[in-house]
This record gives sequence, structure tokens and C-alpha cells, in this order.
Amino acid sequence: RIGRIAVVGSNMVDLITYITRMPAPGETLEAPDFEIGCGGKGANQAVAAAKLGSQVSMVTKVGSDLFGDNTIANFQQFGIDTTHVAKVEGKSSGVAPIFVEESGENSILIVKGANADLLPADVDAAEETLRQADLILMQLEVPLETVRHTVRRAAEWGVPTILNPAPATPELNVGDLRSLSFLVPNESELALLSGMPTDSEDEINAAARSLIAQGIGTVIVTLGGRGARLITADKVTPIEPVRVTPVDTTGAGDAFIGSFAHFFAASGNTEEALKQAARYAAQSVGKRGTQKSYASAAEFVSFCEGLAPSAS
Ligand code: RIB
Ligand code: NA
Repeated sequence: RIGRIAVVGSNMVDLITYITRMPAPGETLEAPDFEIGCGGKGANQAVAAAKLGSQVSMVTKVGSDLFGDNTIANFQQFGIDTTHVAKVEGKSSGVAPIFVEESGENSILIVKGANADLLPADVDAAEETLRQADLILMQLEVPLETVRHTVRRAAEWGVPTILNPAPATPELNVGDLRSLSFLVPNESELALLSGMPTDSEDEINAAARSLIAQGIGTVIVTLGGRGARLITADKVTPIEPVRVTPVDTTGAGDAFIGSFAHFFAASGNTEEALKQAARYAAQSVGKRGTQKSYASAAEFVSFCEGLAPSAS
């Protein structure tokens, strides 16, 4: 079945510079390459799900600039419903200067711009759309009060939720997230939210379980090149990584979460959806750019066909 996904989150324009190393303060250094593309954690997750074939609605705000118009056109190109994408007069769109090293590793600065104006009232205004969703996705590039409000309202409506608590902030409390269905942190975000160490497998499990004991349904910890781990109250399931040579890891986490939402909404099978998501994210790591590197449903099928049998 075709799932309905709603994203309450950010959009950014990614300004990606490919570097050999970071310049020192006061130094000018030439970099080999530059690319501009649509990004932002919310938009990336929305685009991944839409490219795979989910019906996606986006609740976000853009600035009154060319980047804003381009972002709206980009959503529409992928069939994403933009009824609840508003333009903020006198504000810039969100932008993200990104530096990618030859290893594929990235460093990201974000300027929230209009994303900082996405407020609880905007969530209420989108109630009809949000209530009809199979899943509501959130991240932390919009005000925290908006995330808290969405988690609360979604629980009233009985709509399952996913929160990717990135970028990490100490202002988020697990008390804000009691009715959350899925939390998808990396190790450092998990440590910050639980107040517990996450340096070993046992510590990760204990930290995730402490959040589950406080009301979060399921914790999915992303481990970068080491795959991911699905943790429920009574079970830990490792999700094996899919090995690829990294070209650009920017947005790989968003590819993982957006595609997980797509596969989960379609099948209801968490573990299977995570295995597919690991493949989808791996595909994106082999290509430059953020949304640009995400596969369509057909491209994803051929990527999977090319994988060694052990990885499938
Ligand atoms: O997760 C990757 C994203 O983080 C980039 O697209 C950038 O816009 C920042 O929001
Ligand atoms: Na990529």
C-alpha cells in the first residue's frame, strides 16, 4: 500500500564545498569543487519518502527569496503536497554551508532563517493533513516548542510519530517525548537525551531502555558505518551496515529515516523497513549531494540488485 507521510520540519539550501582540508583562521585556501542543492533535514526526509513513492505532505516555512521559490518548486517536482509550506516576508530561507572532505566526511553550519518561524499554530493549521497521515516525521531544525506541540497533538489524534533529535540540543527533555512512537538518535544524541554514556553496546542498550521506560515506544540508534540498532523494551536487533565506498555522507541519515518511514508505512514491519532503509542510505553515500543523491524507487531496485548476496 502507498503510505501517507507528513513532515513537520525544516528545509535548507545546501551550499556544498568539496575541500582537501579546512582553512586555518586567517588563511585562504582553494577548494576543488562546489555544488548547490536542496537540503534541510525535514525536506530531505520528505524527498526520500516521496522518491520511493509515498504520498508526502510538508509543513515548513521558506524565506521570501529565490531559495524559497526554488524549494517550493523542488517539493512539487517530487509530488510533495505544499499546501502547508508558507513564505515568511522579510526573512531569508534556511541555508547550510557544508564542507565535504575527500574521505566523504562532512561538517555543516546551519542558518535556520524562516525555519525558526514554524510555530505550534502552523501545526494546528495543518491538522486536517496531519490527522490523515500514517506517520508524522520531525527533526530539531525548527523551534522545540513546535516539536513538543506536534508530539502532543499527534498522540491525541492517534497518529504515530518519528523524531530524529538532530541537531542535538540539551534543551530537549525526554519528558517532552512521552508519547513518541519512534526516536531515531545517533550515539551522541542518545547520550545527551538519556544523560547516560553510549560508548559500548551495553551502554547504548541501557540508555535506549531508560528512554523506553519513560514512555518512548521504540529507539532506533544509527551508528554510521556500523549500521543501526533497533531497541524495544524486550529486544535488541542489529541492522547490519551495507558497505559502499563513501563519496559524500551528507544527508545519509535523512535518507535512512525518510526511507524507513516509506517502507514502514507501506508494510508495518519495523525490522524489514530498517533493512531496506540501510540499503537506501548506503546508495546515497556513494553519490555527491544531499537530495540529489537519493534514489527513485526504480534506481533503488537496481542498486539492491547490484549488492553482494551477503548484504541482502
Ligand atoms: O542532515 C543533512 C542536512 O543537515 C543537510 O541537508 C543540511 O541542510 C542540514 O540541515
Ligand atoms: Na550523498
